[in-house]
Amino acid sequence: MDHIKAIAFDLYGTLFDVHSVVARCDEHFPGRGREISNLWRQKQLEYTWLRSLMNRYVTFEHATEDALRYTCKHLGLDLDDDVCKALCDAYLRLLPFPEVPETLPELRRRGLKLAVLSNGSPHSIGAVVGHAGLVGEFDHLLSVDPVRVYKPDDRAYRLAEQAFGVTRSSILFVSSNAWDATGARYFGFPTCWINRAGNVFEEMGQAPDWEVRGLDELLRLYDVSGAARGQR
Ligand code: 2OP
Repeated sequence: MDHIKAIAFDLYGTLFDVHSVVARCDEHFPGRGREISNLWRQKQLEYTWLRSLMNRYVTFEHATEDALRYTCKHLGLDLDDDVCKALCDAYLRLLPFPEVPETLPELRRRGLKLAVLSNGSPHSIGAVVGHAGLVGEFDHLLSVDPVRVYKPDDRAYRLAEQAFGVTRSSILFVSSNAWDATGARYFGFPTCWINRAGNVFEEMGQAPDWEVRGLDELLRLYDVSGAARGQR
């Protein structure tokens, strides 16, 4: 990791827990929160990928709302407009994973530039990161909105290279989403997969350069490679 100058983070599922909406879903649909949240996230991702393939971009909030409407229909749940709005608003106040707020400043202290690179819109990224009080930790909050195509398209990853102004080989891309880590690696970013749940990686011709169980572990990896560099 000694050549790394900057880190681009995926947002949803990586820095922030998309399933922190389970409790809100349970309030409206008792006992169904987990099921709703799982299908909602899966459909949201599918809709972004499909819309990229069809060249029919809509914002991430739009795709998220469509996915919620599908989810409730599929599960036979009656979703009125007020509840739909309440749950979509909850998506703007997701919680960060516990180790995230303390690890970001530690990475900055090591001289690394940090960015979010997300399929979210500028509004949704700003709302989620702002609600957690973490905006000041990032040099850039990058949305795919300007290129109107979602990760894992190369045009989305290129936004981080342009923003940092350094070659892609010196930007570490960090994601918990194996499909995203795969796309980033095909683009040419060194890639770290945060595998909190002990899942298996995708079978799509790539493997992450590093695999960790949480963001704090990334810090240790970076320090070990720094110590190795010092010894040379
Ligand atoms: C992202 O934040 C959707 O997790 C994905 O880009």
